[in-house]
This record gives sequence, C-alpha cells and structure tokens, in this order.
Amino acid sequence: MNNEGTPSGSSRLPGFHRLPMAERVRLVAQSAGLTDEERAALGVGRPPLEEVDALSENAIGVLGIPLGVATNFRVNGRDVLVPMATEESSVVAGASHGAKMVREGGGFRAESTDPLMEVQVCLDDVADPASAAARVEAERASLLAEADACSRTLPAIGGGARDLRVRVIDGDFGPTVVVHLGVDVRDAMGANVVNTMGERLAPRLESLLGGRAVLRVIDNYAVRRIARARATVPASAMGGPEAVAGVLRTFSVARHDVHRAVGHNKGMMNGVTAVVLATGNDTRAFESCAHAYAARTGAYRPLPVWGRDAKGDLTADLELPVPVGIVGGLTRAHPTVRAVLKILGVKTARELGEILVCVGLASKLAAEHALATAGIQRGHMRLHASKLAALAGAQGAEIAEVAARLVSGGDITAPRAADILREIRK
Ligand code: MEV
Repeated sequence: MNNEGTPSGSSRLPGFHRLPMAERVRLVAQSAGLTDEERAALGVGRPPLEEVDALSENAIGVLGIPLGVATNFRVNGRDVLVPMATEESSVVAGASHGAKMVREGGGFRAESTDPLMEVQVCLDDVADPASAAARVEAERASLLAEADACSRTLPAIGGGARDLRVRVIDGDFGPTVVVHLGVDVRDAMGANVVNTMGERLAPRLESLLGGRAVLRVIDNYAVRRIARARATVPASAMGGPEAVAGVLRTFSVARHDVHRAVGHNKGMMNGVTAVVLATGNDTRAFESCAHAYAARTGAYRPLPVWGRDAKGDLTADLELPVPVGIVGGLTRAHPTVRAVLKILGVKTARELGEILVCVGLASKLAAEHALATAGIQRGHMRLHASKLAALAGAQGAEIAEVAARLVSGGDITAPRAADILREIRK
C-alpha cells in the first residue's frame, strides 16, 4: 500500500491538482512503479475496441469517465494514492480534502473481517421446515466438501466453503426454507464461485429436505464481509470548534430525518462508488448492499457517524459491507483497472475494502464540513468555473485565470467565460 516509488513515499502531494496532467501521470507512475504499458493504459480510449467486445455484449464503443487521483490518504500508517473514476468534479477534490483533515489527526485506522460471501438456496414445499436446520447440520461436512469441489483454486489458497445456516421465512406460497452457504472467497468478489456452489448444492438439498429449490443465487446482502474505519479529526484541522459543532448539528438532521440521511449517505458513496468503479468492481452490488445496511435497524440511517471527544475533536466512524475483489471479473481483464490496482498498491481484497471505507469517510467529511461552514456551492462553483473555462476554449494557464475571474465576478456562466477569454487574449 505504501507508495515506495516516490522520493518521499508520501500521498501528501501539495499542488498536485495544479500540475499539468502529464506531470501528474509521471508522479503517480513513479510512485506506483507503473510500466510504460500500464502508464499507457491510463490514456484515453482504453480498453482497445477489440477488447471491449469481449468485456460486454453488443458493444459499439467506449464511454470514457475521468480518472482522478485523491491525495493525502494515510491508512493504518501507510500512505496511499487513491484512483477514482467519476464524472462529478468535486469528488476527487473532496476526498483529498477530507483525507487531509484526517491526516492531521494521524490518519485512518481500518480493519476488516474475513472475506465471507454467501449464496442462498431457497426451497419451497419442504416437508417439516422446522427440522430443516437439523437435517442440513447432519450433512454439513459432505455438503461443504461438495461445494468446495466446485473450485480447484479456492481451497488451495486458504478459502472455500465455511458454514451453512438455515432460516425459514413466511413466503407468499407458504414457508420457504432458506439455506445459506458461507464461503471465504479470498480476493475475489465471489459472485461466480458462490453461484456455482449454490447451483451444485441445490439438487442435494432438494432430496435432503424433500422440497423444491426456487432460487439459488448469491446473497448480495454481504453482511459477513465488513470493513470499518475510524479517525479523529482535530478541531483545528476543521477551522475550529464551531466547525465541529456545525457538523454535529448537520448530522443530527441526518440521524432524525430520512430525507437528510439519503443525502448524507450519497456524500459517502460519491467517493466509494468512484473507487469501486475504478477498480472494475460491481457498483450496483456495492450500492444496493450499502443502502440495505443503512436500513438494518428497520429505519434508514446515516452510515458515516460523527461524534466529539473529550478534547473537542471530531470522531469519525464508518462500517460498511465491502463486496469487492481484486481478481476475477474486470479486475484482471481491463488494462486501466490493472494499473489502478497497482497505484492503490493493494495485495488483498480486504485491503481494498479497508481503503474504501476510508474513502467513504473522507468524502463525507469534506461534504459535511462544507455544509456546516461555507456551504457546498463555493467549492462546487470554483470547479464548475474551471470546466466552463475549458469549454470556452481556454488552454493551459488560461483556464485558471478565466476561472478565477469568473468566480471573483460572481457571474459563473458560459457566455461570461467566453467574454473573459476574449479579453485575456486581446
Ligand atoms: C453532492 O454530490 C454531495 C452532497 O450533497 C452530499 C451531502 O449532502 O452530504 C454535498
């Protein structure tokens, strides 16, 4: 995870956002030890069109999403540069800003559970559902062995089928027996392997329980694969005790009103989804699971949690299911994703999950800080002004100049950007 290639090994790169893109790429490539090929994979138009056909169906092209790098992250004492794929301009800046505030308190502390995913086999018309759990338990060892026989690699690398649990739910057609198979999927997201195992076990469970399997599919509610991050943010890093107090007040609204809780969690997902996407993982699986987790008490709640410690500093906590992998799917097939994983420097899916929760905390912290102080529009409009300047045709240093004049004039519009550019060039 350490950026050992940089002279300082640090993710603290002041002025990074002001560098020309080529220089940013050079720095990140040096930091991560990217090969020329990996460096080229960051370029526009990747993956090559011929490869796109193999990645999806009915392909007709590629939709490019900007890939940025968030700086300042320190996770468990190690510096990490975080590539993020997003179309929202404030997301990378926000995550970097949040990570900078956290860094002043020593950085993030993160931990995670083993990478356990589950597959569900759901059976209707089971004879005596109440005894189903005992009947499955009696066959436990042979069922797990049969599941393990589906994967040649998983048991060999320390993963594999771990346990079985049985629930009975009241369905529309009477009781449904739900058998969960828990699988340590190691560094994979795991959908393929657990689905294969579920389909393999279904006929055995049908004969064992005397029922009919109506469903055999991954349990996307990945509550056994959790990562947690925690940080203490000095009040001084946030601009003083009033900012901490302001954050607690905005948070109170999120705690007591679902309308705010949704925006609160969106501010976290801004960063998280950008990294899930950049690492070639399944954003839909991640997001549906995160929101279900937010509602696990029966009410939809804010996931990033703020508090204040005895010294008056802000405490930040986040716990999330992290169904992500660094092998399988796009992660090895897409050249840009391979470069992204190398920049992150993660060696395991658990490490990736731990970074994701830190990114979620950083993103939300920056948004909350802005909301509780100057409001979010100031930062947003500054970034928007740069975009308008570039769209008006400004080049190089002209972009910053046009943007600065747009912001100071207060009329942040496309026609005004064009006027300013003309004035500058005269
Ligand atoms: C904008 O993309 C994200 C925010 O709306 C998040 C929030 O409201 O907390 C600023």
